[in-house]
Amino acid sequence: MITANPHYKKLQGSYLFSRISKILEEERKAQPNLDIIKLGIGDVTKPLSPAVIKAFHQGVDDMATEQGFRGYGPEQGYEFLREIISTNEFPELDIKADEIIVSDGSKCDVANIQELFTQNTSVALPDPVYPVYVDSNVMAGRSQDFKDGRYEGIHYLEGTQANNFVPPPPAEHFDLIYLCFPNNPTGQVASHADLERYVTYALEHNALILFDAAYCAFIQDSTLPKSIYEIPHAKKCAVEFRSFSKTAGFTGTRCAFTVIPKECRIFDAEKKPTALHDLWIRRHSTKFNGVSYPVQRAAAAIYSKAGAEETENRIQYYMHNAKIITQTMETLGLTFYGGKNAPYVWVDTKKSSWDMFTEILKKTGIVLTPGSGFGKNGEGFIRISAFNSTENVETAMQRLQSMF
Ligand code: MLT
Repeated sequence: MITANPHYKKLQGSYLFSRISKILEEERKAQPNLDIIKLGIGDVTKPLSPAVIKAFHQGVDDMATEQGFRGYGPEQGYEFLREIISTNEFPELDIKADEIIVSDGSKCDVANIQELFTQNTSVALPDPVYPVYVDSNVMAGRSQDFKDGRYEGIHYLEGTQANNFVPPPPAEHFDLIYLCFPNNPTGQVASHADLERYVTYALEHNALILFDAAYCAFIQDSTLPKSIYEIPHAKKCAVEFRSFSKTAGFTGTRCAFTVIPKECRIFDAEKKPTALHDLWIRRHSTKFNGVSYPVQRAAAAIYSKAGAEETENRIQYYMHNAKIITQTMETLGLTFYGGKNAPYVWVDTKKSSWDMFTEILKKTGIVLTPGSGFGKNGEGFIRISAFNSTENVETAMQRLQSMF
């Protein structure tokens, strides 16, 4: 008898952003004239930049020639892309091209990597945080039931206003720690000292850190760490996830990369260190056939002179939107976090998140994300995304000002 994975039954409803899409569909039917502005899911709106598009086209043209045609590419990604990432993203950190593994998205990588660990791996992750870390571990059977807003068997690192949503490492032992900075959803960024505490913890506990840095390109304050590898010895105990999605508008084009330094170790059944890099390559080459050649050409173009300038312009465009949002929150006298080094603004509404989400949608047509969708500690908050046109962000903020 083919039997369903029982752990899926523990999951709470549908994935957060699918649930929001369904509600939006219903609202569209109920109020066909409602002018919807989406500041919910962090999805870019600006087109791919000219340098990226040129390289993308060139990649397609190459595929039409005898010499340029490519069949299966290297599963780990073409060397031209891994080399250029190594040089441009980690100029002083000595991350080598063969420690970079190209994929079609950080969401997939961050969800898939946990299959390399034993079933009884103990997991600690922040609350609030990107829901994929929790859900993928629940699917894998690393939790018990959902009670009082949380899964039993998973340890939640308490992100609160008291710690500015940068929770400290746990006091007890855990094997696997998820971190996300700049944080989704709060937009807060950990300092070097904060990350040093986690690296020290991971080394002391023989634990592994999964560091999601999908939004690091949005950091404006140069004193803040963009990569966990800025912390000494982090290469031994941390994996970093990076993405072209938000950085360069690739949400629909799909390209990302995961960094697993050769010295990053986990442990075998005899407690002997084993290279995580080798295990991930084994998994990746078995289950994935690489990102398409034209897409990798397009991704590499963000590191050309023109591509880098255009990419930075897009980041500054969204950060300008974030400023409009934070200024509006200040005018409204609402407490907020983020928006300075991240494209998300995290607002304390002092009302139920879903009630606030619904009220704002019905009255103004603005789609936000309810904070409680990111964890129990998100209750009372809403997340506002800066990914939209400046015109739409300005209109949305005017509507919010009239509503509050
Ligand atoms: C978000 O809005 O949290 C993100 O866009 C979701 C994602 O990157 O998968």
